[in-house]
Amino acid sequence: MISPMRNILSKAVWGEYACDIEALKNWCFYGIFDEFLKNLNRAALFQSPVHGEGHIERTMLHGAFAAMDNDLSEEDTRLLLTMCSYHDTGRLSDWLDDAHGLSSTFKLPGLTAFTGEYLEMMKAGIEAHSRADKDMDEILSQYAVSDMDRTRRLAKFLKDSDGLDRVRISDLDTKFLRNDAAVKRAEFSKFMFDVYTAELEALGRDTGKKRDYFDKDLVTGVRDAVHEGLMAGKCAYEIVISELCRLLDADISVSTRKSCDNSKAVCGCYNACMAFIGEYTGNDDTRLNEFSDSFMKQYKSKACGTLRPAGIRENDPVHICAALILDTTLFAYRFLTAEN
Ligand SMILES: [Fe+2]
Ligand SMILES: [Fe+2]
Repeated sequence: MISPMRNILSKAVWGEYACDIEALKNWCFYGIFDEFLKNLNRAALFQSPVHGEGHIERTMLHGAFAAMDNDLSEEDTRLLLTMCSYHDTGRLSDWLDDAHGLSSTFKLPGLTAFTGEYLEMMKAGIEAHSRADKDMDEILSQYAVSDMDRTRRLAKFLKDSDGLDRVRISDLDTKFLRNDAAVKRAEFSKFMFDVYTAELEALGRDTGKKRDYFDKDLVTGVRDAVHEGLMAGKCAYEIVISELCRLLDADISVSTRKSCDNSKAVCGCYNACMAFIGEYTGNDDTRLNEFSDSFMKQYKSKACGTLRPAGIRENDPVHICAALILDTTLFAYRFLTAEN
């Protein structure tokens, strides 16, 4: 399969960054990086112009620079490149899904030959990448790793490599980067994104430019409402309905509440979307079927136990479904507002 990144690296498109690319190509582990690009399991990646192949290849490039700039060993270079490759495989959507790191850890054993402690180190960093820095040590300590410093270091390199590619949603703030070497690569990251996008255009691939994938105000508004709702003791079903009413300026009260009733249940978020869309469209069966089909395409399941990031666990905190509530609300909103 074609790797746009390998194409670009074979071209003279680097302008003021030609020396940086030259240094990367002369790096003792450049062959390992190239092998990772060549062997990347592209079918396993989340499919999207925002968090899919392009984002992953660029994160891998930033990971290679991190490994080179910080003199990582061959082993750590391989671990970091594996983490960069598969950190987003568990994504459900392009929105603020803060549990996708955990979901990605479940897929990792099938994507790498590393086992034992190395696998645990990578899973720890991948789970932590989608959560706040202040929670990092607590997350890492849940994994069976003997060298915490090494695990934390790799986790931070992953976060920085991933963070550098925030240029694609115009949301890179270097004060959130953790390593000086990454801060110095910020301008290069912007350049890289443009070069990569030009390559996708040349290949006739979707660059995502034509679609609005990430409306920050919309996403953070719903995210905050979801957190407030959960803290106020509301269930997923109620929150989805009230947020869809707010976003679409609708006044719909759906009396029959079918919230999540754990293991056997259809997800409350799905039920809420269907109930809302039913009322909103005057029970248009075609639209309801279309939504149901696209929900299955997006999430692969309607079952609560499958959709929750770690299945049903007895002592899950109330916010465990926050990302899913946010995501499904935005999904239904986009469904109802998309131009046909
Ligand atoms: Fe991610
Ligand atoms: Fe990512």
